[in-house]
Amino acid sequence: MTANELRAAELRELLNRYGHEYYVLDAPTVPDAEYDRLFRELQALEEASPELAVPDSPTRRVGGAPLAEFDSVVHAVPMLSLSNAFSDMQLADPAERHAELIQFDERVRKGLDLAEVEYATEPKFDGLAISLVYEHGVLARAATRGDGVAGEQVTENVRTIRAIPLKLDGANPPALLEVRGEVLMLKRDFERLNADQIERGDKTFANPRNAAAGSLRQLDSRITAQRRLSFFAYSIARVEGADWPATHAGEMAWLKTLGFPVVEESLRPVVRGVAGLSGYYEGVQTRRAGLPFEIDGVVYKVNRRDQQDALGFVSRAPRWAIAHKFPAEEALTVVETIEEQVGRTGAITPVARLKPVFVGGVTVTNATLHNEDEVRRKDVRVGDTVIVRRAGDVIPEVVSVVLAQRPMQPAEGGDLFSAGEEPRYPAYSLPAACPVCGSHVVREEGEAIARCSGGLSCRAQRSQAIQHFAGRRMMDIDGLGERYIDKLVEYGYVKSVADLYRLKLDDLLEMKRRADEDEGATPETVKAGKVASKWAENLIEAIDASRTPPLARLLFALGIRHVGESTAKTLADWLG
Ligand code: IVH
Repeated sequence: MTANELRAAELRELLNRYGHEYYVLDAPTVPDAEYDRLFRELQALEEASPELAVPDSPTRRVGGAPLAEFDSVVHAVPMLSLSNAFSDMQLADPAERHAELIQFDERVRKGLDLAEVEYATEPKFDGLAISLVYEHGVLARAATRGDGVAGEQVTENVRTIRAIPLKLDGANPPALLEVRGEVLMLKRDFERLNADQIERGDKTFANPRNAAAGSLRQLDSRITAQRRLSFFAYSIARVEGADWPATHAGEMAWLKTLGFPVVEESLRPVVRGVAGLSGYYEGVQTRRAGLPFEIDGVVYKVNRRDQQDALGFVSRAPRWAIAHKFPAEEALTVVETIEEQVGRTGAITPVARLKPVFVGGVTVTNATLHNEDEVRRKDVRVGDTVIVRRAGDVIPEVVSVVLAQRPMQPAEGGDLFSAGEEPRYPAYSLPAACPVCGSHVVREEGEAIARCSGGLSCRAQRSQAIQHFAGRRMMDIDGLGERYIDKLVEYGYVKSVADLYRLKLDDLLEMKRRADEDEGATPETVKAGKVASKWAENLIEAIDASRTPPLARLLFALGIRHVGESTAKTLADWLG
């Protein structure tokens, strides 16, 4: 070996190790500048002697010359899909809730003639499946799933994904190894990409999966190199020249030692029976929002490979595995109107009133549009078909408009049924006057939020200020809900929080009677006078109980702009 060959090999080794520490283990041992210095040294060596630029060189991670098209590759082992199971978490009885899961376990147990089966669990990553072939430890070929039989060869693009090893760790790599897994974009990288796209005036991606797919399937791999893609391995398709682990959990552990990113251990326990599976499902559901990547469910695989083989396949899905999906977080519906909500500080939020749609496990009828700029950027209009998203317990939002389904004006001179060029509804603009009190709406220079200038003369702001005041972390007045606050304000019983402390039992009863009548309550409900007087007595008591609050709570409860919970504490400590 020449001195240059030796040095190049040494640099490759170092850079691959540092890259693995940074991108897979999330624990870098050298500063970025050191990595860059070594990288440039290797680049210079390879430029001087191109034969040094071998396929596993980290310099290949920056992408290469654009392709005219992707080659097609036939998968040596077809890439199958998983059957789905769903659970209706609104059902109280666990046997009904998880009926489909119970059926799956029953089929598996019957097929194996066992009383209980051990399953390996995993998140179901919401990205795109990829197959990676390593020959003698070096990444030789990467392909998308395609139709499962043949996919697109995307080796150059995959080389740019830092989390995917170009060369396997360990002294004795298998002669052949085919690994399958999911390419995805982490939530934070997706946010950053979209922010950059907006800055450049380019179109944004609807979700991390689209961003990952769009980034990987670039004929110009230099573009892929600029996108931060991640990868998690989830199975082995072929091994030659090494022992193939006997369980799925064993496969994951082996892949980890070879340098592949696999999901952290607490997200892939080996469990037994339906109770183990459903416990995992519910546990992951609560962790979902906090995970760094998007998942659309979990996957269960019979842990032992001999049992997997015994069960085999039906059509194009294995009998030994199933995807247990979460309810879809996105759905299509139609915008019926766009209204504005006025918040406690006067902030005006446009809200889309929607044709009711089942999404994220509940029926959604409203979705926030955040602010005027957002509505304009997404160009949401009345009549539009939109994608709404409800993730976890977050307020539902409009993700994007399906422009192809926008209602259009009939063409001029044409008949009623031929669509013209003009949209039927105009682009959204915020009203100049507060929809509640009619005061001017002002939007300060550089602010995204427009506000009603009415202050506490605006009924909406008054009502919200009182709601805030009565809240749990503020004055904690039990029994004073949103509905009654709105009515107390509307009928003029309460103009400021101070008025709460002047309320009499009769005021409350009178207010409640009026409210019930206004809302068309039946005579029976109005007659429920006993219940009402108990409610009013309790409320008066709760208000009384809040007459001597700790100073910090009072300061926070007053809802002074920029005085949050912790500032209030600091102020109170200082004031004594
Ligand atoms: S195993 C024979 N494990 O789901 C089954 N797939 O419908 C091979 N997916 O195309 C798949 N996370 O893209 C498996 N932990 C996981 C997965 C997973 C996501 C995707 C994969 C595949 C689809 C199957």
